[in-house]
Amino acid sequence: MSDTTTDEGVRELIREHYAERAVAAGQAQPCSCGCGGAATAVPQDEMARGLYAIDETTDLPAEAVLASLGCGNPTALADLRPGEVVLDLGSGGGIDVLLSARRVGPAGKAYGLDMTDEMLALARENQRKAGVGNVEFLKGEIESLPLPDASVDVIISNCVINLSTDKDRVLAEAFRVLRPGGRFAVSDILFQGDMSRVPRSLLDDVEAWSGCIAGALEERDYLTRLRKAGFVDAGVEVTNVYEGAPENSCCGAPALPDGVSLISGFVRASKPKG
Ligand SMILES: C[S@@+](CC[C@H](N)C(=O)[O-])C[C@H]1O[C@@H](n2cnc3c(N)ncnc32)[C@H](O)[C@@H]1O
Repeated sequence: MSDTTTDEGVRELIREHYAERAVAAGQAQPCSCGCGGAATAVPQDEMARGLYAIDETTDLPAEAVLASLGCGNPTALADLRPGEVVLDLGSGGGIDVLLSARRVGPAGKAYGLDMTDEMLALARENQRKAGVGNVEFLKGEIESLPLPDASVDVIISNCVINLSTDKDRVLAEAFRVLRPGGRFAVSDILFQGDMSRVPRSLLDDVEAWSGCIAGALEERDYLTRLRKAGFVDAGVEVTNVYEGAPENSCCGAPALPDGVSLISGFVRASKPKG
């Protein structure tokens, strides 16, 4: 059992959590309660609803689609162009990497990065089934990217940065690997409102952390951190607002105090050109 009082312990718990989901997806079981599985996770059916258009996913292996644990569709909003290099932070089963590879074409490249061996194995198998060449899955942590400075045009990510216990480090690393003028185009879970009203018990709940809730940043805090890391033109577009989940749901959204909401947002920012 991980020691969840340390950052490494929380990361290990997250790793175990997503390893289980990778194995389930590899056996073609849908990732129900995906970004969680406890009573305090974002409902996966709410997250998955309408994220990807049918014609986007018809050419992808079923396991890649079943393994989707995101809360948005960053590739649809990121304006990817042929020839670009894309990096997906926390690529999971690889759905957004495979979609990006198609968008950047053979002259471009899509990297996926994940720390969980089982997810990497699933993603590489999905790449093989999809027959896509301009893709590479890397093992690593989003707090320490195994890529050189100024080597990436677009950073995407789908429901992962909220899981990090050192988000400033993630943003600093994203800034480092982006080329001047490069774009940060990330879907994530965010809070909106007065965080002092959110019960400490929820924010300290490690199950809720691995379920993509407890680690979520408040929208204005996210933007402030992006600017502190050096990004410009930072903004958030709300793509979903979570309501309370049905009673007895295995993975319901927690009750939040008045004046606080939990949302999926598309977070954009750029690295200055000059
Ligand atoms: C909620 S899932 C999202 C997966 C994928 N982006 C998707 O949309 O299906 C989170 C993924 O991020 C990975 N992950 C979580 N924290 C990470 C970290 N600090 N460094 C690298 N990968 C991480 C997990 O292993 C898991 O595959």
